[in-house]
Amino acid sequence: MIGKPSPHIEGSYRFSIAPMMDCTDRHFRVLMRQITRRSLLYTEMVVANALHHTVSRKKILDFDPVEHPLALQIGGDDPKLLAEATRLAESWGYDEVNLNIGCPSPRVQSGNFGACLMANPDQVARCIEAMREASTLPITIKHRIGIDNLDSKEFLKAFIDQVAKAGAKRFIVHARKAILEGLNPKQNRTIPPLEYEKVAYIKEELPNLIIELNGGLNTPQDCLEALTIFDGVMVGRAAYSHPLRWQAIDELIYGDNPRSICASSIINRLIPYAEKHLNQGGKIWDIGRHLLNLVEGVPGAKAWRKQLTLQAQKSNAEIKVLENAAQALKEAGL
Ligand SMILES: Cc1cc2nc3c(=O)[nH]c(=O)nc-3n(C[C@H](O)[C@H](O)[C@H](O)COP(=O)(O)O)c2cc1C
Repeated sequence: MIGKPSPHIEGSYRFSIAPMMDCTDRHFRVLMRQITRRSLLYTEMVVANALHHTVSRKKILDFDPVEHPLALQIGGDDPKLLAEATRLAESWGYDEVNLNIGCPSPRVQSGNFGACLMANPDQVARCIEAMREASTLPITIKHRIGIDNLDSKEFLKAFIDQVAKAGAKRFIVHARKAILEGLNPKQNRTIPPLEYEKVAYIKEELPNLIIELNGGLNTPQDCLEALTIFDGVMVGRAAYSHPLRWQAIDELIYGDNPRSICASSIINRLIPYAEKHLNQGGKIWDIGRHLLNLVEGVPGAKAWRKQLTLQAQKSNAEIKVLENAAQALKEAGL
């Protein structure tokens, strides 16, 4: 699908939903669009090398126009392949391209990209330059505050300075360092402490750069506080686990008029999208699995999730499963 770039990309990065493998697929993004129309959404990381070799680019890159503004996140260390992926992103209609220099997984390290590239700012700069030259899309970067012993604020500043000179438009900084030996990716999202002050130092030292804070932001209030210092905030796990927590974000962050949103109306609004997905050979569970967190902390939530899971996982599950799930919530006033 060739989408149309959104006219609303400007400033959308003030609030974004983080790229998360196995979570932020197109179905979750369409769900989040029922909750926030304005924030910037990201794909899961797409490996440039895999994109080069695959025969199913459509499957990896297609998205629904409702997802705009949307960034494609790419992983890789080869400027040529990253340039090719960036050209594809442009022709597919993405609004921008983000380079992942934050992922600490061993698989990614063995491919010599992700967080380990922070140790090689020259290579990161070459990648950014190649991506910038390949298209007119903004090129952004997501990285950690450091890796292993390369964790001083001076190191971070020099890294960002060099990558900015190569043409990166915005910096999304996960405010934890990555420990590449001995911690798995999940531990690398909890064990290294959050050091917001290091990211604040960067914003103070390099005030003209657009610096976004990521890591441990759990509530809209956390985000509003962070926005007094930073140019944008990115939320990952708290968005996936508690989607409705963010229902006032367009009003709070972008000054939109208040809208009332409830779980049943969200599911009902997804039905035409789900029908289309079914007609194209997709499964109800592809969408249903992301809906489970719409209901939490109310009596009957567990039973509702169990019922949806049981019904939606059936291989012949029909649209009725979602209609029933929405109806049950409506009857409960949700
Ligand atoms: C399940 C999962 C998958 C993730 N996948 C990616 C990814 O593909 N690319 C990336 O840059 N970060 C990835 N991350 C990291 C998040 O984007 C984010 O930086 C991290 O979770 C910290 O933000 P949070 O505290 O708001 O969750 C992932 C995180 C989780 C929990």
